[in-house]
Amino acid sequence: MSHTIPAVPAASGGQTSGALLELRHITVAYGGFAAVDDVSIALKQGGALGVVGESGAGKSTLARVAAGLIAPAAGRTLLDGRELAPIRRTREQRRRIQMVFQNPDSSLNPSHTIRRILAEGMLLHGTLGPHPPRDVVDARCRRLLAMVGLGEERDILARRPRAFSGGQRQRIAIARALAVEPDVLVADEPTSALDVTVQRGILDLLVRLRREQGLALLLITHDLGVVNAVCDEVAVMRHGQIVADGPADLFFHAPLAGYSGDLLAAAREVALQAALACKPAFRYGGKDLTREGKKNVR
Ligand SMILES: Nc1ncnc2c1ncn2[C@@H]1O[C@H](COP(=O)(O)OP(=O)(O)O)[C@@H](O)[C@H]1O
Ligand SMILES: [Mg+2]
Repeated sequence: MSHTIPAVPAASGGQTSGALLELRHITVAYGGFAAVDDVSIALKQGGALGVVGESGAGKSTLARVAAGLIAPAAGRTLLDGRELAPIRRTREQRRRIQMVFQNPDSSLNPSHTIRRILAEGMLLHGTLGPHPPRDVVDARCRRLLAMVGLGEERDILARRPRAFSGGQRQRIAIARALAVEPDVLVADEPTSALDVTVQRGILDLLVRLRREQGLALLLITHDLGVVNAVCDEVAVMRHGQIVADGPADLFFHAPLAGYSGDLLAAAREVALQAALACKPAFRYGGKDLTREGKKNVR
């Protein structure tokens, strides 16, 4: 079925599955420890894939491989079926995959104005042509801010991150990513550092950007509610491996025993229940579910 991760064709080089972004058999080792262990995921054009799992599962490491920030010990990353260099990507390849981090306070330079934060990538990547006039850049910055639901105050471009709330700063970080017109947004726990009351607004924004801009999302989270709000595909990670993956509607609407209380515990229970209930819609880490499933998930 199309939602299961396609098998890698043996010795076939650049064969594609139609996915926009694919990670194949990625392994990342820190010392002798495999933080990510032979993981494959595929993100469709305009799709939203949620990678969910407990803390330490390897989610951020996987996100960084996708964005080209760290090189895996093994495995390949493909964009439009073409293999990307692990880290020394071309400028154009870097432009197409943008990342948003958990904490806007550490990802936005506090001494830079919003204009500078938003314009930097556009100027580097030439999104507005080689030498865009200042008013063209400003107009583009204002459109970006409107796109992420920020105000129209006259002085907004001259302000610095400190003048905004945490949720607004995360919107600015998202606007900065959008500034270079990426195809893929990799968002690593984009709402985890925010007040519960503003989390929903950021998730709604991601849903809207996907719909309106055709942006594909690779959304990393420990929170199943976040996946449920935004994603149409789910991959559950544990101990560096994918233990279950498939369509979100099956994942969330399969009979779910134990889906209450602590979401992290629930994630494991849900992964197991969904995998059991929906097989073969849910692949189970490539392993025989009946023999290995319980051992892997609990
Ligand atoms: N730079 C690093 N050096 C050594 N170990 C790391 C490093 N980054 C992450 N790890 C370890 O790799 C594992 C996965 O980490 P991470 O990808 O951050 O997980 P998650 O995002 O799911 O919480 C954890 O055990 C973590 O301690
Ligand atoms: Mg993480």
